[in-house]
Amino acid sequence: MSDVRASVAGPADWPEVVALRTRVFVDEQGVPPEIEQDDADATAVHGIARDAAGAVVATGRLLLRGDGTATIGRMATDAAARGRGHGAAVLAELERQAAARGVVAVELHAQVTARRFYERAGYAAVGDEYVEAGIRHVTMRRRL
Ligand SMILES: CC(C)(COP(=O)(O)OP(=O)(O)OC[C@H]1O[C@@H](n2cnc3c(N)ncnc32)[C@H](O)[C@@H]1OP(=O)(O)O)[C@@H](O)C(=O)NCCC(=O)NCCS
Repeated sequence: MSDVRASVAGPADWPEVVALRTRVFVDEQGVPPEIEQDDADATAVHGIARDAAGAVVATGRLLLRGDGTATIGRMATDAAARGRGHGAAVLAELERQAAARGVVAVELHAQVTARRFYERAGYAAVGDEYVEAGIRHVTMRRRL
């Protein structure tokens, strides 16, 4: 278990969130910068976790669908901070935020390399793998 804490990001955290997502998705994974940020960022609930020095080292976002379900995406932990529970803490915080808004089920498009990360958090794969932003994904769901 980890004592890493996550929280909801405020406007002042946004530059750090963007910088982290750019490092992970654009620089590390080669996602085109023009699709990394999108209109959904304006309405999403963004989660963050910080390291001991206070830097944002993990993030993710929650998109409410309005039908009792929600989507979690853009989960990213700084490469130097992986494996220490920051990603799991952000995921759990986003699930708490979802449940507080009446969400009963969360769906996400998992990169296949992160499938085990989500399985450990209680998600199950549905359907076949597909390619999104040039990366192999699988849809996963969890009831809250
Ligand atoms: C996937 C990602 C967000 C995980 O973040 P993290 O902070 O390293 O994850 P955690 O340390 O909280 O890991 C939680 C658990 O999942 C496991 N886990 C994490 N990433 C894993 C992976 N890629 N494969 C298998 N297990 C993994 C950890 O070992 C840990 O297990 P434990 O509960 O037994 O300790 C991070 O690896 C990342 O940013 N990857 C690059 C971007 C990416 O692929 N994002 C996902 C988009 S769908």
